[in-house]
Amino acid sequence: MTIVHTTEEWRDLRRSAVFEGKTVGFVPTMGALHAGHVALLERARAENDLVVLSIFVNPTQFNDPRDLEKYPRTWEADLAAARRAGVDAIFAPVRDQMYPDGYRYRVTEDTLSALMEGRHRPGHFDGVLTVVLKLLLLVQADRAYFGEKDMQQLLLVRGMAQAFFVPTEIVACPTVRAEDGLALSSRNALLTPEGRARAPEFARILREESDPEKAKRRLEAAGFGVDYVEHYEQWRLGAVRIDGIRLIDNVRSENPL
Ligand code: PAF
Repeated sequence: MTIVHTTEEWRDLRRSAVFEGKTVGFVPTMGALHAGHVALLERARAENDLVVLSIFVNPTQFNDPRDLEKYPRTWEADLAAARRAGVDAIFAPVRDQMYPDGYRYRVTEDTLSALMEGRHRPGHFDGVLTVVLKLLLLVQADRAYFGEKDMQQLLLVRGMAQAFFVPTEIVACPTVRAEDGLALSSRNALLTPEGRARAPEFARILREESDPEKAKRRLEAAGFGVDYVEHYEQWRLGAVRIDGIRLIDNVRSENPL
């Protein structure tokens, strides 16, 4: 497993004989890998000759500096998980490598990115789309794998890839859940034991309650701070706060409004 930290080294590796004539599957992450990421890596492993993982805690997508500071960083465990999943190369750049322009240039979508997560996290999707476009251009994968847990992100990335004629196929992968129903997320590691015990109620209420207003009231009664519960196309999406940690999730909606 090769690990590179600079865009220059990455470009050299990508042009080298190692990649010649090989199909490439790419899984972009911010590290703190969990079973959801591993499922993406396994799918990439099954569908491509080579698997590339990126690990980069992207500062431009954090609207709250405290959130960026406390985001879990688990480098050694991530390397072990990557090795077990059969990753061939890890691209783990430092900030200046990804933003040599100081973030003067950025990608903005002006419709879907203003809703839901975008309304509560101003600038978040500019940061996500900008870093994902940079990574897609650098990695030049045949396929890139994204989890459906971040449904709004997935829809925006797919739309961006189409808009800019990015040749990489954007592959959607089902949300991986803990046995109690909680969607796996790197942020779950930040929950207190009590918060972790209460968190699965979020997925349960979101799934059971098709009326967003009723879902909000039930979530509030269960002790969650509710940022939103909304229908969008065929999904019902929500974001809540518990223990000061923000969790998001979505379910397919049987009766979208
Ligand atoms: O989903 C994530 O972990 C991040 O938003 C991504 C796609 C790696 C971009 O930083």
